Amino acid sequence: MLINSAKFDADNFLREYWQKKPLLIKNPWNSWSNPLEPDELAGLAGEEQIESRLITKTGNIWGLEHGPFSAAHFQRLDKKQWTLLVQAVDHSVPEVAAVIAPFRFIPNWRIDDVMVSYASDGGGVGPHFDQYDVFLVQGLGKRRWQIGERRTDQSALIPHDDLRLLADFEATDEWLLEPGDMLYVPPGISHNGVAVGEDCMTYSIGFRAPTRKELIGYWMDDLLVAMDDDDHFADPDLHRQENPGQIRAEAIARLHEMITDKTGDRDAFMRWFGTYNSTRKYPELDWSPEKPIEIAELRKLLSSGVPLLRNPASRFSYVEAGDAGILLFVDGVSFEIPVELVSFAKDLCSRDSITIHTDLIDSDFAMLQLATLYNSGSLMFAEIETD
Ligand code: SIN
Ligand code: CO
Repeated sequence: MLINSAKFDADNFLREYWQKKPLLIKNPWNSWSNPLEPDELAGLAGEEQIESRLITKTGNIWGLEHGPFSAAHFQRLDKKQWTLLVQAVDHSVPEVAAVIAPFRFIPNWRIDDVMVSYASDGGGVGPHFDQYDVFLVQGLGKRRWQIGERRTDQSALIPHDDLRLLADFEATDEWLLEPGDMLYVPPGISHNGVAVGEDCMTYSIGFRAPTRKELIGYWMDDLLVAMDDDDHFADPDLHRQENPGQIRAEAIARLHEMITDKTGDRDAFMRWFGTYNSTRKYPELDWSPEKPIEIAELRKLLSSGVPLLRNPASRFSYVEAGDAGILLFVDGVSFEIPVELVSFAKDLCSRDSITIHTDLIDSDFAMLQLATLYNSGSLMFAEIETD
């Protein structure tokens, strides 16, 4: 699915709107076609390992249920206003994963997933704000979107155990979105979408950004695992002090250094962050193939030109790592990539379908790395996937 650059200018968007203000983009696609049928979405919502929610509204009463949902469950909803939300549909439907492609002008490490919603006439999730940037693409049917002021955690909410809906939402702008239209909403901006007519489907291309608390907490947890239990403060240079109650500045400085020695190590942080950030959204799901691939089979398939694809559930990113090499991060694992493989590894991060140069097919090191990625389910072959 391609976006017409005359209708959407990514550089201008980044400069003027990204993380700053909302933007309505009237159908910028070369030709938009809804990538998923409503009953296929309902089918996904019936699967145990897929995260789904159902939000209902009866009069002024909001309800939330968590999936999986049976087909009979949807029939029982009958005249209620409701919305089904299914998370990470891009992981299991390649046509939905293709909707992210035009948004890759934002780095991989900031992309979260594509959530797909289906609403009955008048259905919506209520006025709220999110912590993250989102592109709301209207897939099928119509939805009226209203946006309001920027909100914070101090904003008044409707009393509810599970939903965080704004008590006093006031629209500053509103639009009726039709298939292919999209609305960009930055973090904190209040918004409210209501389906107009039946069969309203919205695709939320969601981003992510770690909190300071999360970075400190998880990094410290991982640092602690690698630390020596017997690494104590030492003061062989201790001398008498006037008041035994004082903790002297030299002691504080040395204690503080015991911490900053570890936390100030940028290289260690870079390695940790790459692996942490590239961990899959649902790491408990096993995507590995039924049978591990042998190097000979891998060579045969690559030589015959079968393209490699990234698993849409996988996360690929890299950092420059000196001597023209890179550190490649895939699904929570880091790989030191030597110069001769750098351009191929970069292609893995940036292209949706990759073919490989014959020189690399001869390289045992390259084949081993690829076999590792294939056998952990991070890469797949185009044809094997569609079989
Ligand atoms: C929806 O698709 O109805 C909800 C998306 C959102 O407001 O974040
Ligand atoms: Co939202």
